[in-house]
Amino acid sequence: MENESLEKVKQQVVKFVASCNHNRSLELLDLLSQGKMLRSKLILKIAGQTKESIKLCAIIEMIQSASLLHDDVIDEADTRRGKPSINALFDNKTSIMFGDILYSKAFSELTLMDKQIAYTVADAVTKLSIGELMDVELTNSFNSSYDLYFEMIYNKTASLIEASAKAAALLVQKDPTSFALYGKNLGLAFQMIDDILDITQDSQTLGKPAMLDFVEGKVTIPYLLLYERIDNKDKLKSLYKKELNSDEQLWIKEQMVKYDVLKDSIAQAKQIGLEAIEAIKADQNSDLINIMKQMIDREF
Ligand code: FPP
Ligand code: MG
Repeated sequence: MENESLEKVKQQVVKFVASCNHNRSLELLDLLSQGKMLRSKLILKIAGQTKESIKLCAIIEMIQSASLLHDDVIDEADTRRGKPSINALFDNKTSIMFGDILYSKAFSELTLMDKQIAYTVADAVTKLSIGELMDVELTNSFNSSYDLYFEMIYNKTASLIEASAKAAALLVQKDPTSFALYGKNLGLAFQMIDDILDITQDSQTLGKPAMLDFVEGKVTIPYLLLYERIDNKDKLKSLYKKELNSDEQLWIKEQMVKYDVLKDSIAQAKQIGLEAIEAIKADQNSDLINIMKQMIDREF
């Protein structure tokens, strides 16, 4: 059932893109590697499967793809989910402009929806862009502020998940505030788990090089905790933004074990996950609890 609904979302995206009357866009769409469709799963669990909810899912997936097309240019990433990125297959211009096509088509369709839903989603894209800019600027120098890290991951990742859950609730007259809070906390926990997997998983599982965040200048939650606890702060800082050899990677991992950093990062993500579940207690929706649990226990 879930797969059938997600298939409908994919078909809806194809329909939206086809209605732009531009074959090249359909070709490029075909080259995108499919993600986990977390946001669609969430919308469908909250709002059920209707014509409107499928359209909302397709709009959100197009915005998500657009943001990743831009992000891969910004990050100079050659791969996306184990497949060559559009910027690697063609060039930056293609990736940016195809992102703009998906993004603006999603917005055209959004204007046809309920005003409050449209505003909720549109507002999240502003946050997404602010989050991406913060992410870029935070890599300029070693960031040791938890507040800045959480503000950045809220904007970059949690805001669109928050908006998806809120918009889905609005679609079926459920309480938007509690579902928004569920989505926000799910999104924060999702990004924290992503940041932990960067350290614990190998590149094959991740579909991109492992332990890349620190090399790229991203001081994520495990590194923030390690920096706070470690005696040899200078050594940790000396490895920041450096291509790490295997000894250096091992040293970081050993320090993370020594200072219980990975364990505590996972515990923090789980705690935020529990707060997500708490927010929607009244709805008694076991599917939403499962989405949370699967997200925490995932390996990539
Ligand atoms: C991935 O981060 C990036 C995002 C979650 C958001 C990117 C947002 C923009 C580029 C704003 C523009 C948005 C639109 C719709 C035009 P990451 O690099 O940490 O994760 P990754 O490993 O998946 O690349
Ligand atoms: Mg990226």
